[in-house]
Amino acid sequence: MKPLSRKTAIVTGASSGIGRATALELARKGASVVATARRFDRVEALARQIAEEGGRALPLRCDVREARDVENVVETSCKHFGGIDILVANAGIMPISLMRHLHVAEWMATVDVNFKGVLASLAAVLPKFLEQKSGHIVTLSSVAGRKVYPGSAVYCATKYAVRALAEGLRMELSPSDNIRVTIIEPGAVITELLETITDQAALQEIQKNFQEGRALQAEDIAAAIVYAVTQPPHVNVNEILIRPTFQEL
Ligand SMILES: NC(=O)c1ccc[n+]([C@@H]2O[C@H](COP(=O)([O-])OP(=O)(O)OC[C@H]3O[C@@H](n4cnc5c(N)ncnc54)[C@H](OP(=O)(O)O)[C@@H]3O)[C@@H](O)[C@H]2O)c1
Repeated sequence: MKPLSRKTAIVTGASSGIGRATALELARKGASVVATARRFDRVEALARQIAEEGGRALPLRCDVREARDVENVVETSCKHFGGIDILVANAGIMPISLMRHLHVAEWMATVDVNFKGVLASLAAVLPKFLEQKSGHIVTLSSVAGRKVYPGSAVYCATKYAVRALAEGLRMELSPSDNIRVTIIEPGAVITELLETITDQAALQEIQKNFQEGRALQAEDIAAAIVYAVTQPPHVNVNEILIRPTFQEL
């Protein structure tokens, strides 16, 4: 039997990058995967690929800024697969820029997706996890949740917030309710994330860290997530920080 054969996992932001790779890998380990994102065609194609590999997946359209969307994901997952065991709150954007450039709409969008989207996802699964006295919450923070970079202040703020939230969740929920919490903190991973940057100066600066062959691949992070969620029940993998070998800061 595969290690996650009896588990159901929801992955937000499964249409590309880390979320997509994680959904695939969780399915390969036997989990039933609910693959969600705004680009339904992408998650639909992913679900087809999982099915072709002999796995189980349900694609759902979900914008994490909409509480109703996330609630629908949880309700539909329960109906379709009979429950939920793992939430990978992965959806995120990174439209970085210097504060002096006043990209205010992008600041607000970053908070809405990267922090409030995680809160909405949590609010939707938590009643279920509390009722069943089990569950695993995986959040995507970043090296940027440990260190502030000029040009990334708002992004860093959201990733610090996610890390603080996850630590609070662990303290409140792990000992008393058997709900495990893992914070994943990647360095530079080659994905579509840089496409959310509109500020050309910020894009040029950050691209130095995202070199093909040197930066991490989405699969490297998926492997870390699979490691965390396949440990025996008494093991709570709280934090995994992964940089590419060449990345100094
Ligand atoms: N790449 C890195 O170097 C790196 C490093 C540290 C942490 N991270 C974190 O890892 C996570 C995944 O990023 P990635 O690198 O895999 O980037 P990516 O390839 O751009 O993937 C981001 C995912 O988030 C989804 N998303 C964006 N806005 C959304 C919304 N409003 N509602 C639902 N889904 C939304 C996107 O799907 P749709 O557009 O289809 O909705 C996409 O599937 C993010 O939280 C990111 O901050 C990445």
